[in-house]
Parts: sequence; C-alpha cells; structure tokens
Amino acid sequence: TLPIRIAPSILAADFSKLGQEVRDVVEAGADWVHLDVMDGHFVPNISFGPDVIKALRPHTTAFFDCHLMIAPADPYLEAFAKAGCDSITVHAEAGPHLHRSLQTIRALGKKVGVTLNPATPLSVLENVLDDIDLILIMSVNPGFGGQKFIPAMVEKIRAAKAMIGARPIELQVDGGITADTIGAATAAGANVFVAGSAVYKGGSIEAYRANVAALRTAAES
Ligand code: DX5
Ligand code: ZN
Repeated sequence: TLPIRIAPSILAADFSKLGQEVRDVVEAGADWVHLDVMDGHFVPNISFGPDVIKALRPHTTAFFDCHLMIAPADPYLEAFAKAGCDSITVHAEAGPHLHRSLQTIRALGKKVGVTLNPATPLSVLENVLDDIDLILIMSVNPGFGGQKFIPAMVEKIRAAKAMIGARPIELQVDGGITADTIGAATAAGANVFVAGSAVYKGGSIEAYRANVAALRTAAES
C-alpha cells in the first residue's frame, strides 16, 4: 500500500513570500507541495500560472503536485511540465478529450492525475484507470480554500479505492481537510491529503510543523 502523504496547498500561504513559504512547509514535514492553478473561467477565482511555479522550483526538491483548475488544459500542459511540476492533474470536466490530456501529460514524462468535482461520478474514470497515477477526489467545490468538507465524499473515496483495486494509483482528497476530517478520508482509502488552511494557519514554521504533525497523527490513528 502507498504511504500517507501530506500535501500542503500554497493557496493558503503568504503570496508575498512564496519561496520561503514553500521551503518552510517542506522543512516542517510536508511530503508534497500542492499547486492550485485557477483560471477565473473553469473556477470562479484566479491564482497563479506556470511562471510562478518555475520561480518556486529552485526553492525545494520536494514533489510538485500540480492541480489544474483550468479549461482548456491541453494548450498549457507543456508549460506546466517545463516549469517543473512532477505530477499534473486535470479535471475530467475541463474538456471533451480527457484521454488525450492524459496521454499528453504521460508523453511529457510527468505523473498523470485526474480529478473529479463533487458532483461528477466515478464512472468517467472506468476507461482510463490504466493510464493514470493519481485520482483526486474533490471534497469541496473547487475555487477557494477554507471551505467545509462535503461528507458524502467519504463514500466516493471508498468507491474509488475499490475501483483502483491492486493498481498503484495514489488516491488523493482535496478540500476541507483538517485533523477532524482526515481520519474518515484515510479510513475510506485515501493516502494523499491536500490541506491549505489547516497547514498554513499560524503563519510560522513552528505552527506549520505542529499543523502537519497533527494531520499526520490524525491520519495514522
Ligand atoms: C480548492 C483547492 C484546494 C484548497 C484546499 O479549489 O483545490 O487545494 O486550496 O484548501 P483548504 O484545505 O483550505 O480547504
Ligand atoms: Zn487543489
């Protein structure tokens, strides 16, 4: 089975000092760095693009886990690969040719992820299971940090885990993850946990260390 991974989202970091915020969170025990890219079109918010990721890349060797909330995604996949993302996750809802997007990410030499909005059924994954390295179950409607975990997503995680079977696919959950909600997600079979506000609250490396540890403890218990 795959290890528990804590993946802080820098969406909740101080954007005026992102390099330091990335270094600090990795030093504080984060496993992956989650990069939330929003275009103001697929989701009702705008965050940052490949040039910001490229600028962050020299600050750490940690795995860069890129969540693209953009439509279309295909014209930008190469730019995100070149910026230094290690995985690229696209929304199944972002275009009519999911398989083509996944093939493109694979050809760029990056780990391949697919994510589903809360209302999107798992069945859209049935025919791409052997083409992906990661499934991201959105447990909030994407666009903003600090929202509440949608409890119905626990059952969806369980069903995704069953669908994955013996395949070495990372099962990630994103949105409203705190020390109170992470346990249900782990029990249902998720192993990668995105957390923005629950990690970056407190605003110091000491706080991040305590926040990451609290999530890990709650996930493993
Ligand atoms: C939502 C983003 C999430 C979000 C998580 O659109 O994909 O990564 O920033 O933030 P929290 O952990 O605060 O719900
Ligand atoms: Zn995300």
